[in-house]
Amino acid sequence: MILHENYSLKKLNTFGINASAQYFAEFTNIGEVQEILSQQALFGMPKLILGGGSNLLFTKNFEGVILKNNLKGIELIKEDADFYFVKAAAGEVWHEFVMHCIVAGYAGLENLSLIPGCVGASPMQNIGAYGVEIKDSFYELEALLIADKTIHTFSNAACRFGYRESVFKHELKNQYIITSVTFKLRKQPVFNTSYGAIEKELEEMGVKELSIQAISQAVCNIRRSKLPNPAEIGNAGSFFKNPEILKVQYEHLKNKFPAIVGYDLENVNVKLAAGWLIEQCGWKGKTFGDAGVHKLQALVLINYGNAEGSEIMELSQNIMDSVKEKFEVELEREVNII
Ligand code: FAD
Ligand code: EPU
Repeated sequence: MILHENYSLKKLNTFGINASAQYFAEFTNIGEVQEILSQQALFGMPKLILGGGSNLLFTKNFEGVILKNNLKGIELIKEDADFYFVKAAAGEVWHEFVMHCIVAGYAGLENLSLIPGCVGASPMQNIGAYGVEIKDSFYELEALLIADKTIHTFSNAACRFGYRESVFKHELKNQYIITSVTFKLRKQPVFNTSYGAIEKELEEMGVKELSIQAISQAVCNIRRSKLPNPAEIGNAGSFFKNPEILKVQYEHLKNKFPAIVGYDLENVNVKLAAGWLIEQCGWKGKTFGDAGVHKLQALVLINYGNAEGSEIMELSQNIMDSVKEKFEVELEREVNII
């Protein structure tokens, strides 16, 4: 394993930000990462685990060690009458893992097709799309505690998943390296077409009989039609979360802005479509130098070329301020700011 110094991260983050890491190393097995964590010279230095770099924004060079997770392997570890238990190493590419499951007939992840990044990051923010989150089929994960290099297992409950949340973004932030994730996937699929656009797309595709393949294809088609491909345009998906507000506040806003888009949650809250709020503030499609707001999805901020992380950050702050001013709603960033 090579420890690089002053290493460019431009190609390792989907925003395409030109930042560098003071130290950088890739690991392909657990022994390698334990070895690097044992190096005296690196003790006490900030550490960042990198997967596909599709959910972070570098606002400056990283003064510390970046460890790129390249652990590979997918394994069916057990099955019972109803479920397959499938373990994927953290460095597997998420979409390739989803495709592997679809081909093998393991159901549950099809709605999460085409989300960029690696398996290891998927529990960090409980990735979700089209009516499904990984918590719905997550079984357990293994993670290495950076402090003493021991391996620990976390159950679904221990991860404390929420909307784009887990314990690893809070109490346990920066303490663990997730090394593998095991999913509990159905033998008999339970199709989720609750997200309106899926039904419509399946109809347009002429699908007569539902299958996990068809749902996956529908999701891929929808995603390709509105989300920018990071290989072509720098971005990290939704930059903000969809904010949750109290129903009373929602009713008040609805009176003032009848077209506002909100979804009732099971508790006393309503989740607002942040994209709608941002669009109403006039940001959609706007550019400021190389930084901008996507023309088809106002929730996605863009680096059109050589924007700096600080410019994207400034744009996001201006968006937050204007949404606050117009709607009295606080937006929260979803992307990890480094
Ligand atoms: P990275 O960006 O590399 O890392 C993200 C965070 O996790 C960092 O804090 C990092 O330190 C930490 N981390 C990464 N790997 C590990 C590990 N093994 N152990 C410990 N910590 C780790 N997200 C959704 O939820 N739903 C979507 O629909 C969605 N659509 C997207 C569309 C586009 C076009 C893009 C660019 C992004 C989208 N995202 C979406 C966001 C992103 O794809 C996910 O958050 C993804 O899980 C990030 O994976 P990654 O490997 O790139 O993580
Ligand atoms: N909308 C607008 N203008 C816009 C964008 C959206 O008015 O510019 C409104 C529309 O009414 C639309 C609604 O917002 O119907 C919802 O938009 P969309 O279906 O595109 O979903 P989203 O709420 O913007 C969320 C996730 C995505 C996920 C999709 C599909 C968050 C923060 N984002 O986006 O996740 O793929 O739903 O489930 O929850 C990500 O996390 O990076 C991400 C892309």
